[in-house]
Amino acid sequence: MIFLHTEIGSARDNFKSPIHNWYKFTAGFSYKFVEEIIEVEGLNIKPNSRIFDPFAGCGTTLVSSQKKEVFAVGNEGQEFMFDIINAKLKWKLDRKKIIHYLDRLSYSLTNKDFNYNANPLLDTLYEEMDLKILYQIRNEILGIKEKRYKLFFKLALSQTLHKVSIHPIAVPYISRNKILKNIKSVWETFSEISLNMLSDTEGLNQDETAVVYKHDSRKINKRILDNSCNVCITSPPYLNNLDYGEVSKVHTHFFDITSSWNDITNKVRKKLVTGATTHYNQSDFNLEKFLKSEFYKENPEIVNQLITLSTTIKNIAKNRSGKKSFDLLTLFYFQDMYLVLKEIRRVLDNNGKAYLILGDSAPYGVYVPTTEILGRIAVNIGFSSYEIHKIRSRGTKWKSLKNRHSIELTENVLLLK
Ligand SMILES: C[S@@+](CC[C@H](N)C(=O)[O-])C[C@H]1O[C@@H](n2cnc3c(N)ncnc32)[C@H](O)[C@@H]1O
Repeated sequence: MIFLHTEIGSARDNFKSPIHNWYKFTAGFSYKFVEEIIEVEGLNIKPNSRIFDPFAGCGTTLVSSQKKEVFAVGNEGQEFMFDIINAKLKWKLDRKKIIHYLDRLSYSLTNKDFNYNANPLLDTLYEEMDLKILYQIRNEILGIKEKRYKLFFKLALSQTLHKVSIHPIAVPYISRNKILKNIKSVWETFSEISLNMLSDTEGLNQDETAVVYKHDSRKINKRILDNSCNVCITSPPYLNNLDYGEVSKVHTHFFDITSSWNDITNKVRKKLVTGATTHYNQSDFNLEKFLKSEFYKENPEIVNQLITLSTTIKNIAKNRSGKKSFDLLTLFYFQDMYLVLKEIRRVLDNNGKAYLILGDSAPYGVYVPTTEILGRIAVNIGFSSYEIHKIRSRGTKWKSLKNRHSIELTENVLLLK
């Protein structure tokens, strides 16, 4: 694949591209990757082409597909991200209505008697008056009846939360050691973001060719029929302990989706592939049950290799201060990804291909060839072959590691046919 270059695994390109840059999401990948696959596979020429993304994230695959007028469908497990993607796919907007709503929101700020009950986390991240204004705008937006405008302004406000905080809030986690200098007021920031978003949609083709579902891709999504897509383009969570519940918690708390650690576990983490040790309790794992699972029955050789890796990780963990259960995370991760690969296989037609951007991992310095293992699982469940194309070497993100290991990790495209 000659079009692959080192930047494809990073979201940097997206920060400069209209609509892709509506929401800052550090875990994304380049929209250029999607555009190139559409080109290479001729998806914008072949009739009835349809793309599938089981991990829609901030919507890179879906937005690129819609820009190229190709049909696409995706799942996203997080309620908050689902709203973000939905807003990014609704380009039929009336300038007069946007101005009308902005006037209404601005007018609501003239009444200084705000009804405001902030989550304590947000108290520590925003100036008191800014927070009052943010909540007031939020409450007014939640009262908007027209769904596409409500989603539009919710997204503009979500982006405002990033811009007016005292500390950066999602890089990917809150960095309290850094202070942001906010020159513009909350209202100036919010209204400017809204008007920029509106300008981005003007002149664009307004056909909505992409759809997103709030759905956990480990389960069958009956709204997406068997064999209904030709190509899957996605980037799954990596086995690198990134906790998406933590990444989005300022926003999920602000929009009252969650209010505590337990809430994040039940309403966010549990709906996602197990990619961080915060997703489970160690007592949730039962080896006997694991060895009776469908995952084991269909992949005995791979699971035995995983158990050996897991035991090595567990032994090393005993001498580490953090004692994170990366041994269990490794088993849970592949079991979950096995279920998602089955769902990808079901949705793709017989000649379907899947392109997955993936990183390898080294929990506690034990190399786990993630891309290769997933390729082998894919073959066991019905794909005929897999190829691994390296895009770049990358550093480790295993934060709890005191003495960083020296293993070179790679980011790859796994191509399943
Ligand atoms: C690496 S991000 C994907 C980035 C995305 N492709 C982009 O660039 O916009 C992974 C996304 O998958 C979502 N996710 C994780 N497990 C999921 C599951 N089981 N079903 C649906 N979505 C899931 C996460 O919430 C996160 O938004």
